[in-house]
Amino acid sequence: MSAPKKLFIKTYGCQMNVYDSERMAEALGGEGYVETKSPDDADMILLNTCHIREKAAEKVYSELGRFKGLKAEKPDLKIGVAGCVAQAEGQEIMRRQPLVDLVVGPQSYHRLPEMEAKAREGEKVLDTDFPEEDKFEKLKNRPKAKRGPTAFLTVQEGCDKFCAFCVVPYTRGAEVSRPADRILREAQDLVERGVREITLLGQNVNAYHGAGANGDMTLAQLIWELDKVDGLERIRFTTSHPNDMQDDLIEAHGTCAKLMPYLHLPVQAGSDKILKRMNRAHTAESYLRLIERIRVARPDILISGDFIVGFPEETEADFQATLDLVEEVKYGTAYSFKYSTRPGTPAAERPQVDPAEADDRLQRLQALLTKQQREVQDSMVGRDVTVLFEKAGRFPGQMVGKSDYLHAVHVADCDRAIGDLARVRILSSGANSLAGALID
Ligand code: SAH
Ligand code: SF4
Ligand code: F3S
Repeated sequence: MSAPKKLFIKTYGCQMNVYDSERMAEALGGEGYVETKSPDDADMILLNTCHIREKAAEKVYSELGRFKGLKAEKPDLKIGVAGCVAQAEGQEIMRRQPLVDLVVGPQSYHRLPEMEAKAREGEKVLDTDFPEEDKFEKLKNRPKAKRGPTAFLTVQEGCDKFCAFCVVPYTRGAEVSRPADRILREAQDLVERGVREITLLGQNVNAYHGAGANGDMTLAQLIWELDKVDGLERIRFTTSHPNDMQDDLIEAHGTCAKLMPYLHLPVQAGSDKILKRMNRAHTAESYLRLIERIRVARPDILISGDFIVGFPEETEADFQATLDLVEEVKYGTAYSFKYSTRPGTPAAERPQVDPAEADDRLQRLQALLTKQQREVQDSMVGRDVTVLFEKAGRFPGQMVGKSDYLHAVHVADCDRAIGDLARVRILSSGANSLAGALID
């Protein structure tokens, strides 16, 4: 028997790309590929790319350039580009970088095996269609390998919101929800392979409206179905839009024990003028009232967010409104970015903020967010949390896992195994993680 071919995948961008990379590895697994951690011994290199900011997109070209020597040594090496840059500028990639054999957009992964075969024949292949079929259904021939205790599961993809800065509606296409029975089957399968915690993914996950037995289901209804899966201990979901935060989902945060007290709810900015120009369709006030209602349902919930500073026409006063909103919410964690002009999006045409000014605002916002993050983390000291152990720690007998609130927790003298859940008392708070001791 010939040795298996080796596949090296590098993943950029969001969790959905992580999920997609797993599916691509499985699809090519059916063609005799096994994954390798090094590009040097690969027969196929796949870059799963992100287009969200200019820096992310440019990385692809520099990374590809680095494979020149490798390809010269190994003429049979095939190089592919997948993901959102592939979708946005597939033709240009082929033109700019002759090393590339294959370009596949996020909606065409199930066609990878045929594409790989063509590339092996020496053809250049590009597929950035938006086909109608459920690509995940076509990717089912996966081996039943054991898995770690946490997994992502895509339930919804694409976006119809068209925020004025964002490429996602163009790279991922229109908003589509997967039917509930397929999601439940996939969840069941994950649990049978050792998964204890599932994070439901979607660019607009709380807009989920997949077909169920009695018509379309909401995300909350899907969560309640997953709640019944024996052996599944924790459910999370990301990313949500404030305008799709329906009552039944807020309520589920108070009543569904498996649904974790953590919510990523990006607001982007605190000035109503800027929110309007971003086409966000919510105000700072409506966002704050929403957070209030969520905290009534689940008082200890940890709120996470995304922010953009230096959006076109943002003044110092607009930026101050963002700081004010942050002060009011008290984020447990947050991601903040300097606005990056994306070709083809409406905001790209507008008067841009001075980059030095935007840098300064980003620094000020990040200082505030870091302080809040630390305060929320420190406030866990003395409290009891549940930890799902994910790996051994650096020291003998130490284990590391995540709390319900998604804080990393180190536990010394821990006799538990990966995948176990245990009650832990938090004893101290460090730079990026907590330390605690088993309670029983
Ligand atoms: N679907 C998610 C995530 C979108 S991308 C959502 O709607 O929240 C993740 C984050 O990247 C966004 O929330 C936004 O804060 C940031 N982002 C998107 N486009 C950007 C751009 N052009 N410049 C800077 N940040 C951007
Ligand atoms: Fe992008 Fe806005 Fe859609 Fe989020 S809601 S993916 S930021 S267009
Ligand atoms: Fe990036 Fe595409 Fe995700 S642009 S953030 S990889 S949806």
